Amino acid sequence: MSKQQPHQIVVGILANAGGVGKTTLAVHLAYDLFKRGCSVALIDLDPQRALDVFCGLPSVEAENSVVRILSKDFDGKWPLASAWDTTKIEVCQGHPTLSQISDDLVIRRRGEYTLVDRLHNHPLPHDVVILDCPATLGMICENAIAASTGLLVPIQLEMKSVSGVADLVQWAIAISDDLQLDPRPPILGLVPSLYDSNRAIHRQYLQQLPEVAEQLGIKLYPHIRDSSEFKNASANGLPLQKYRSAHPANKDFEALAKDLSALVRKGLVRKGK
Ligand SMILES: Nc1ncnc2c1ncn2[C@@H]1O[C@H](COP(=O)(O)OP(=O)(O)OP(=O)(O)O)[C@@H](O)[C@H]1O
Ligand SMILES: [Mg+2]
Repeated sequence: MSKQQPHQIVVGILANAGGVGKTTLAVHLAYDLFKRGCSVALIDLDPQRALDVFCGLPSVEAENSVVRILSKDFDGKWPLASAWDTTKIEVCQGHPTLSQISDDLVIRRRGEYTLVDRLHNHPLPHDVVILDCPATLGMICENAIAASTGLLVPIQLEMKSVSGVADLVQWAIAISDDLQLDPRPPILGLVPSLYDSNRAIHRQYLQQLPEVAEQLGIKLYPHIRDSSEFKNASANGLPLQKYRSAHPANKDFEALAKDLSALVRKGLVRKGK
């Protein structure tokens, strides 16, 4: 039997390119879910440790970062830092040496299952665990897929991102099958990001996305608008909801956060491993 929290959901945020808004989505979703009464753990799986900045946290040494979790001799003590003055949102921070750990995972027994093993053997108490993935699809992302009860794919309204989404979905399915994940973590949705209504190409791709999503059999969520206030908020270590609570873009995360909090109530649990 799994020791993981019975109603905990683990959401991996995955994309096929850098800079498409993965970390922005992770952070704003975390805050929206917190406002809906969920406790959230954010795990930074990116060696570039962007979550530190987005959460206004000072960087930490490797032993106080996610590197400790993925190390061979993990002692069961998760290093977590509270974000934004609430103990309901905790961050397991990233570290540049995550790249070395990633190389080590390739040759380690159950390397792809390291994170899911940690979550099972040393469960976190949070309702939702959000995994902020790096842009490179490798061992770390495979760990994220194995640990996730569902995946979210932010998608930028650019040709490369839109045309590459089918490949990313195929890749995630292939990895899930190789790892014999039961059930295979569903892709909970595509999330168009950085949408600028003044750009004809964005409007055009946004129009095409429902068909792309339908062909892939994946739900399409409302877009997240492009706003320089996202950059300002993150530069100040805050989510936009806290930085500018009345900003209209805060509503862009509502549909997604609503669905995820409903999943928490329902419990979307992986069967025994
Ligand atoms: N909706 C938005 N409007 C304006 N700027 C945004 C928006 N979303 C993200 N950004 C900005 O774009 C940059 C990239 O966003 P983010 O770091 O969230 O992407 P990422 O996919 O996590 O990138 P990486 O691949 O480097 O991890 C950041 O400077 C961020 O503040
Ligand atoms: Mg990022």
